[in-house]
Amino acid sequence: LRESNDTKDYILVIGGLGFIGSHTTLELLKDGQNVVVVDNMSNSFESAFNNIHRLARKHWASRGAACPDFKLHKVDYRSPIMRTVLGGYAIQDPALSTTRLSHITGVIHFAAYKSVEESTQRPLDYYLNNVAGMIELLILLGDFGIKNFVFSSSATVYGSVLSEDGEPVEEEQLVHHPTQRVDSNGQATSLTPGIKGLTSPYGRTKYFSEAILADVALADPSWRITALRYFNPVGCEPSGLLAEDPRQKPTNLFPVVCQVLSGERPALDIFGTDWDTRDGTAVRDYIHVVDLARGHLAALAAAGGRPSELAFRAYNLGTGSGSTVAEVVSCMEKAACRSIPVRRTGRRTGDVGFCVAATDRAMRELNWKTQLSLDDCAADTWRCLRLSGKVAA
Ligand code: WQD
Repeated sequence: LRESNDTKDYILVIGGLGFIGSHTTLELLKDGQNVVVVDNMSNSFESAFNNIHRLARKHWASRGAACPDFKLHKVDYRSPIMRTVLGGYAIQDPALSTTRLSHITGVIHFAAYKSVEESTQRPLDYYLNNVAGMIELLILLGDFGIKNFVFSSSATVYGSVLSEDGEPVEEEQLVHHPTQRVDSNGQATSLTPGIKGLTSPYGRTKYFSEAILADVALADPSWRITALRYFNPVGCEPSGLLAEDPRQKPTNLFPVVCQVLSGERPALDIFGTDWDTRDGTAVRDYIHVVDLARGHLAALAAAGGRPSELAFRAYNLGTGSGSTVAEVVSCMEKAACRSIPVRRTGRRTGDVGFCVAATDRAMRELNWKTQLSLDDCAADTWRCLRLSGKVAA
């Protein structure tokens, strides 16, 4: 726990040892922010904590400075112990007013189950952890007056709003109260198409969570809640120490391509070559995980400057440009200097042909945009694979 005489402020990262969480925790430390991580280790390893710390110390040592404070509580964010953990950072309010104060000045909540396929088999586990867990967390944070809350959301909330017309998807296309969709004249119309077309319990947990967050902010505008809708996070930071190491069998494109390169799979099945896209394979917005991590720092920093009518705000985190599956394969072949065997198969259930972020809101309001390219994603992915020892150099 925290030493009683510690008066420093911290950012709380829940699930901070996972793939995106660890990259975000590292960026926070490199930005000079003190971090406390709560992680139940269900889908991460303690080595991630040591690797993050090692990389952050190296960053600061090269600048002749000490690394910010970095603490880990190996706790499930839903356990009663969480109240004790947060109590360790509470500030005894001198005026003894009802508003609690804390040395935790912001929270990023990554801890959620994230497998689309698994969510169809275990919907109650997903609703319990991803939705009920978040509700309990918000109640606890509210008790401690911790109200700068960044939520890990997903482009999957757009459901069937995504079309094959090739237009980047705007945040406005999803009304947070799933009772109505507002047309260009501000007139309420039918149910947001997204909720009808959400293709999995996982996607619905993200959609319902956003609706709940919007309701909380509407009821109490002292919150500053930010939902970050990730498009397709890929790659890893250059050392390769924080590469994704899923305990489940991967189904996402980049990890599957890695399994083909390492010989764990004979070929990549390309799901559908008859989409209405430039080469017939589906288009996605692949964002480097380091760019994604930096988007969280920008969101934390910008929250305080938002007016109360924007107590809840959602942002797309994507590059704004799309790549086809075939283009990803070519990029990875170039990075690995070897060919990747592919098999052309039918479409995967629930897939859409096109999903690319409109990025102007994040650029305008968070002063954030991606810096890294698909080639950078491929090069870092290949380096991580080589460093893992799964492929010969
Ligand atoms: C990308 C493209 C596939 C594997 C998923 C989740 C979404 C979000 C991000 C959490 C698609 C094609 C893939 C393969 C293929 N996760 N593909 N062969 O489906 O865009 O989004 O991850 O928030 O919720 O749905 O990502 O990497 O699975 O697929 O052809 O073996 O690659 O059809 O066009 P997706 P993906």
